[in-house]
Amino acid sequence: MGKALIAGNWKMNGLAAQAEALALAVREGAAEVRDRAEILICPPATVLAMVARAMRGGPVMVGGQDCHMKGEGAHTGDISAEMLKDAGASHVIVGHSERRTDHGETNAMVMGKARMAMNFELRPILCIGETLAEREQGRAREVVQDQMSNSIPDGFEEAGGIVAYEPVWAIGTGRTASEDEIAEMHSFIRSLLGSRRMASVPILYGGSVKPANARAILALPEVGGALVGGASLVAADFLAIAAAAP
Ligand code: PGA
Repeated sequence: MGKALIAGNWKMNGLAAQAEALALAVREGAAEVRDRAEILICPPATVLAMVARAMRGGPVMVGGQDCHMKGEGAHTGDISAEMLKDAGASHVIVGHSERRTDHGETNAMVMGKARMAMNFELRPILCIGETLAEREQGRAREVVQDQMSNSIPDGFEEAGGIVAYEPVWAIGTGRTASEDEIAEMHSFIRSLLGSRRMASVPILYGGSVKPANARAILALPEVGGALVGGASLVAADFLAIAAAAP
């Protein structure tokens, strides 16, 4: 496996001054962790271009949090993959569980978004993961398998696609999946990717990753990095997670 990818998902947080300060603080510390981790920050769309300009020439990459499945046109309030690319993004998160829930995004829509990202040479970070009810019903694997088959497009590996396994019950709850649960699902996802001849697609874990648990999680087999929400809003915590990469 290559270097770990530590991706910060700022979600709907960050006014201009605060976003710039956070990004600059991440950039400042990124040099020290450069040999063990690649660092990506995904700020809100309103500040993405500004943050990307501030990160230019440094080790910190910038990504979007979502893109539309269409290339352009009459979609009020939406943001296209090409716009993100134009603003300086290299990656885009698609299919985050909050978007699947808040905006009714289906697997088919997520696949469309991933395709559009790939068209504009953005690396999609495609999120999958079961809810607590699904896990308790013993359906976690089935749900993940369904999401993978119906939202990951062909050509995903060649386009630098990345999968993020984020059990919905572990996002923003402070409740991290156990090391066994993470290792078990990552190995299952790896086998599903293998059966589609996408064996080298990195698999990130996301869900309440913090400095205190990062070392153990990032050392697990098939964990290629982390998608970090809450802890990515504090530069020192985010950098400590990156420093914990093996
Ligand atoms: P969290 O969010 O780290 O706050 O749990 C992770 C995510 O939603 O990507």
